[in-house]
Amino acid sequence: MISQNIINQIIENVDIVDTVGSYLPLTPKGKNYWAVCPFHNDSNPSMSVSREKKFFKCFSCGTSGNVIAFVQKYENIAYYEAAHKLALKVGLKVEEFDTPEYRKNKQYYLAMDEAKNFYQFYLHNTAEGLKAKAYLELRGITEEIIDKFQIGLAPSSYDYLHKALLEKNVGFIEQNDLGLVRENDKGEYYDVFRNRIIFPLTNHEGQTVGLSGRIYLDNDKNAKYLNSQENDIFHKGEILYNYHQATLSIKKLDEVYVFEGFMDVIAAEKAEISNAVATMGTALTKNHIKSLTNLTKNIVLCFDGDDAGISATKKAAEICSSMNVLPYAALLPDGLDPDEYLQKYGKEALKNYLQEHKVNIYDYLYNLSKNNLVIEDIESVERFKKNVFDILRKAKSTTLSEFYLKKMSVELDCDINSLIADFGKATPFVNNIKPEKVKVDKPKRTLKPKIYKALEVIIKTSLKNKDVLKDYYRLTENKYISDAMPYCTIIDQISFEYDLVGAIDIDKIKDKLESYSEAYDCFEKIINNRLIDENNMDACSECINTIVEYWENEKRKECFENALKDDQKCDDLIKVVRKQHKLKENM
Ligand code: GTP
Ligand code: MN
Repeated sequence: MISQNIINQIIENVDIVDTVGSYLPLTPKGKNYWAVCPFHNDSNPSMSVSREKKFFKCFSCGTSGNVIAFVQKYENIAYYEAAHKLALKVGLKVEEFDTPEYRKNKQYYLAMDEAKNFYQFYLHNTAEGLKAKAYLELRGITEEIIDKFQIGLAPSSYDYLHKALLEKNVGFIEQNDLGLVRENDKGEYYDVFRNRIIFPLTNHEGQTVGLSGRIYLDNDKNAKYLNSQENDIFHKGEILYNYHQATLSIKKLDEVYVFEGFMDVIAAEKAEISNAVATMGTALTKNHIKSLTNLTKNIVLCFDGDDAGISATKKAAEICSSMNVLPYAALLPDGLDPDEYLQKYGKEALKNYLQEHKVNIYDYLYNLSKNNLVIEDIESVERFKKNVFDILRKAKSTTLSEFYLKKMSVELDCDINSLIADFGKATPFVNNIKPEKVKVDKPKRTLKPKIYKALEVIIKTSLKNKDVLKDYYRLTENKYISDAMPYCTIIDQISFEYDLVGAIDIDKIKDKLESYSEAYDCFEKIINNRLIDENNMDACSECINTIVEYWENEKRKECFENALKDDQKCDDLIKVVRKQHKLKENM
C-alpha cells in the first residue's frame, strides 16, 4: 500500500495542468484551464483543470479528482499504478507499489506474462508462425489486430513453453497451477496448449490471467477452443474479454456491445467498433454486469442469432432486471454471429445493422414471441400469451407488465382486464396492476431534513455570493451526496456559471436544469423560498458545517463497517475515534 504521505507529496508536487496537458489540449480561461472531457462523449470544453486547487472537474459528466485520479481514469490503470507513474516523474522514491492482491499472486502474474510473451514471439519468428499468420490473414485479422490483442501461437512441440518458462525462472509449480504445463505418467512435462492460436485473456486491470487457444490446422480434430482452467488469478465469471482495452471507448460512446465469443470482439474491431467485450464461454453474471454498469448504463447484448443465443439473451435479461438494469438487444439475422455477418456483408453493414436494430430487450423478447402469432388461431394466441407472461413474470416489474399487457391487448384486440385476469391466475403480484394508472416514482428523501435545508440555504446564498461555493467545495472535498443529487447538480451548475461567465443568470441555470426535472423543481422551490435570507452569511456557514458533519459521520460509518470486516482496520478505527475525542476536547 502507498502511504497517505506519498500520495500527498504527489498531489503537492506534480503539476496537474502539465500532466493533463500532456494528454489533452488545454485552453486557459480565467484562473483555470479547460478541455474537452475525455470521459464522456462531448465536443464542448466542459472540463476545468485548476492548478491552484490541484483538481480537475467535468461540469457535464461530473468526473472529478486529483492528478492521480486523472491518470488512473485516463489510462484505465489502478490507482497505485497511476501514483507510481507520477511519483517516478517527480523523482519520489517509492518502495512498494503493488496492490496486496498483486503481491500475493505476483509469481502467477509474472508467469502468465512470460507465457504470453513466449507465444507472441513464437508466432512472429518461426515457420509454424507463418502458417498460423496465413490462417489469421484469411480471417481478416491484420498485423495491427494481432498486436492489439497480443495474439500468439502455441507450437506443435510438446515442451517448448515448459522449457522457455524454466529459463525465465518460472518453476513447474506455477506452470502447473496456471494450467500451462502438466506431468504425464512417465514423469515428463508437456505443454497443455499445442498447435493453437493463442488469445491472451486479461483481467480488468489489463494483466494477463488466462489463455484461450484455437485450432487452426485443416486436419485438427481437437476441440475448437481450449481455455485455461480457472485458477487463483483467473475467474471466468468476473472477466470480460477486452474490458480493459475498451474501457475508455465505452465511456466515451456511453455504450457497450456484449458478444458471445471473443472472436466477435476481434471482428468488431475490424469494423472499427472498439466498445465491445465478450464473455469467456459462460453466461453473463452479476459481476459482469456490475463491471459494465460502472462504465455505462447502455448495455447492448449481441448474442448469436441462433437458439443458444436467444436463450442466453433471455437469461441475461433476467439477471439484468434483478439488478434494475434494462439492457438492449441487437441480434443478427439468420443465426449469424458478428464475425460471419461481417465476412458476408462487410464492415459498414455490421456497424449499421447493430445501430439500427438495437431495441430494448423486452421489445426484443416480445417481438420474438409474436413471430409465429396467427390471430385467428386460438392455439397460437395462447402460446403467444404464455410466452409473454413467462417473460413478464421473470422481469418481476409491475410497470413493465402493465406496459406489455396493454400492448398485447391492442395486438389481440381484447380487453386488458381479461389479459390481467389470465396473467394473474399464475402470478401473485398481478393484483398490484391497475389498468390505466402509470406509477411514477416520487423522489426519495432519505436523509435528515436538516441536510436538505442546509443545501437549500447554501444554494440560495451562493447565488448572491460566489465565495460560498469555494468554501463548500473546499470543506466537503466536492463529494456528491448520492441521496441529494438534484441539490448537488444545482450547486455544480451554479459553480459552472461562476467559473465560465463570472456572474449568475437564474434563467440560464433553469435552462440547463430543464432536462432534470427533479433538480429544476427543487431549484424553483429554493429561489422562491422567502424564509431563506441569502444575505445571512453566518447562517450559511452553519449550513456548510452541517454538510461537513454529514460527511464526517459517513466516514465514521464506513470505518466501522470496514473494521467489522477487517482486523487490521481496527487500529485505524481506534485512531480515528481518538482523534475525534481530542478534537472535541479542544473545542
Ligand atoms: P470462430 O468459430 O473462431 O469464429 O469462433 P466463435 O466466436 O464463432 O465461436 P463460437 O460461437 O462457436 O463460440 C463462442 C464461445 O464459446 C467461444 O469464444 C468460446 O469461449 C466458447 N467455445 C466455443 N467452442 C468451444 C470449445 O470447443 N471449447 C471450449 N472450451 N469453449 C468453446
Ligand atoms: Mn465465428
